[in-house]
Amino acid sequence: TGLKEAYRDRFLIGAAINTSIASGKHPDITEIIQRDFSSVTPENSMKWGSVRAADGGWKWEEADHFMNFAAQHNLHAVGHTLAWHGQTPDSVFKNAKGDYIKPAELTKKMEEHITTIVGRYKGKLHAWDAVNEAVGDDNQMRKSHYFNILGEQFIDKAFHLAHEVDPKAHLMYNDYNIERGGKREACAELLKRLKKRGVPVQGIGIQAHVAVDGPSISDIEKSIVAYADLGLRVHFTELDVDVLPQVWNLPVAEISTRFEYKPERDPFKSGLTKEANDKLSSRYEELFKLFIKHKDKIDRVTLWGVSDDASWLNDFPIRGRTAYPLLFDRKRQPKDAYRRVLAL
Ligand code: XIL
Repeated sequence: TGLKEAYRDRFLIGAAINTSIASGKHPDITEIIQRDFSSVTPENSMKWGSVRAADGGWKWEEADHFMNFAAQHNLHAVGHTLAWHGQTPDSVFKNAKGDYIKPAELTKKMEEHITTIVGRYKGKLHAWDAVNEAVGDDNQMRKSHYFNILGEQFIDKAFHLAHEVDPKAHLMYNDYNIERGGKREACAELLKRLKKRGVPVQGIGIQAHVAVDGPSISDIEKSIVAYADLGLRVHFTELDVDVLPQVWNLPVAEISTRFEYKPERDPFKSGLTKEANDKLSSRYEELFKLFIKHKDKIDRVTLWGVSDDASWLNDFPIRGRTAYPLLFDRKRQPKDAYRRVLAL
């Protein structure tokens, strides 16, 4: 037996899957998912840029593959995402001259978009990351096109629309770095305002793209408790653990080279050292120990991928790095981290 069985009475264990996995092209990955995972999230296939054609028409093929895969393997399916500044073409927000469209126009587009996609999968998708990444890295509301046109109300709108179409779907606000102090408080304040205005937000999605050495377990624990205290169910939605040198906090002199590929920023090109692999295993173990401690507050822990070969971190924030952030290696074999998490 695998993780799914071991965590049955704790919380759901999920994985993000890409279209190639969802189309059944990797029998070895399908087997892992059947044994280890109880939930799936589409890595890209339900984003605006994936489901909409340039002329605004709909392209359902990839999203349908995902839904069929989830149904076939009896998996709890999570939608991702209804309103996000990323992977959404500028033409949604701007006219041909490059000027912002009017608030009423964007509201109409949101109505059509959200009503259609939530309606199509109503009763089949159990939850939605309704709004993604609305708080900026400066802990202020992100000045996205959505925000610039509609203000914070774009968030209310997205939640209300989704809730009207599918009242049974569990609706989450999803964001990154909100398990760290600073952004945690900003995000909690936003959620308080939403709740006060009667916005139907039921869960917090903590993306949790973390590193081996941070954020600290106590910081993450504070966040779980802070969001649960607001009456929200807690979901870890995009967990992965980076062992590569972090580039965000480089000294000022190096800021301009931050995203440049340099060999010293890719130290494990030909494989993880034993020391690095041990760090990764211990980090996964301490994270899952914390999740288990708070299992009464946590509904789901989803990893952003199954095996390292398909992780987005191979290309982010630096193209072409060799990343090792998941529980299965590039040969789709379970890592020591997997065994440690399984044994808890
Ligand atoms: C990433 C996907 O994994 C990549 O394949 C894609 O190129 C970019 O987006 N936060 C999110 C996810 O909410 O949608 C992002 O997924 C990772 C960060």
